[in-house]
Amino acid sequence: MSAPSLLATLPGRFYTDPEVFALEQRRVFESMWFCAVRAADLARPGAFRTVQVGGESVIVSRAKDGSARAFLNVCRHRGARLCEEEAGEVRRAFQCVYHAWTYDLDGKLVAAPNLTKMPDVDRVEYGLVRAHVREWLGYVWVCLADEPPSFEQDVLGAVVTRLGDLSAIENYGVEALEVGRRITYDVKANWKLIVENFMECYHCATIHPELTEVLPEFADGYAAQYFVGHGAAFGQDVQGFTVDGSPGVDRIPGVGAEQDRRYYAITIRPQVFVNLVPDHAIVHRMYPLAADRTVVECDWLFLPEAVGGGRDLGPSVELFHRVNAQDFAACERCQPAMASRAYARGGVLVPSEHHIAQFHEWVADRLGLPR
Ligand code: FES
Ligand SMILES: [Fe+2]
Repeated sequence: MSAPSLLATLPGRFYTDPEVFALEQRRVFESMWFCAVRAADLARPGAFRTVQVGGESVIVSRAKDGSARAFLNVCRHRGARLCEEEAGEVRRAFQCVYHAWTYDLDGKLVAAPNLTKMPDVDRVEYGLVRAHVREWLGYVWVCLADEPPSFEQDVLGAVVTRLGDLSAIENYGVEALEVGRRITYDVKANWKLIVENFMECYHCATIHPELTEVLPEFADGYAAQYFVGHGAAFGQDVQGFTVDGSPGVDRIPGVGAEQDRRYYAITIRPQVFVNLVPDHAIVHRMYPLAADRTVVECDWLFLPEAVGGGRDLGPSVELFHRVNAQDFAACERCQPAMASRAYARGGVLVPSEHHIAQFHEWVADRLGLPR
């Protein structure tokens, strides 16, 4: 029997229903490894960022020994939010503004008014609730599950599935690159629309004139992600991955001839996209905030000498900034229709989008919901 030429998408309610979103927060974002913060943003002990992971606010910080830590952003006394700022730095401890309970950089309760007279308050038991932490690609990944899933299987495994092996990403030394530019997009669309859009290239010819100029094969509509290990080749006259085809900056030394002049895109479920080109990497992290709202933080990462050396990163940044704007506008155009009667049973996937059905199955399975 031949494969059906059309497959159904998820029904519209998966993109609008607050109950579905609440399930996703628990069973996806609070259960899996979540790429939270660029490690270099936590430059010194005491530096922190607060991020939304599923339904929880999480403090990601640098401890005294230089390692990263993650805590739920909740005072253990009567529950006040500990850090209101999105980013900041404390000297030695986090202090709650309500009754001044004070936690050291390992989360241990170290001071509170009258603490010595309250022997029942155990300093470790009433310390901050910790989340699991891993550092990889120069990012701090956190997991809020009691028993985290295998990082190797879920995160590294996604890269191996896409590229064939880990060395293909290790060649870019992403952890040693520096943020040349960061743009934060507040997208009025469900996170799954953004994932689905990233996975297919059926839209490339219609909405990405600059990208298809650089990567002519994208005009055919077949996403490079569909073929293991394949990177889309630059067009003949294209000198670099830039908005005008100009040369870009110095090539990352580990990138060999077989990866040169190629673009690789990787989706790491549930909320990370990695894009690799010879002279930079572009990493997207999504923070889903509501069924119809997702904040996307996008980093353009270059060799430190390119960032520090006053090189013009503009044409490199501009290319994918335009792609992002084009993609997110498309997602925002779909979001309102997800609530329409016309989409109650969803839409269809054409053959070049069939791999998106696996993503839909994966989502429905994780949520334990019928489609
Ligand atoms: S709620 Fe934080 S010290 Fe009381
Ligand atoms: Fe796109």
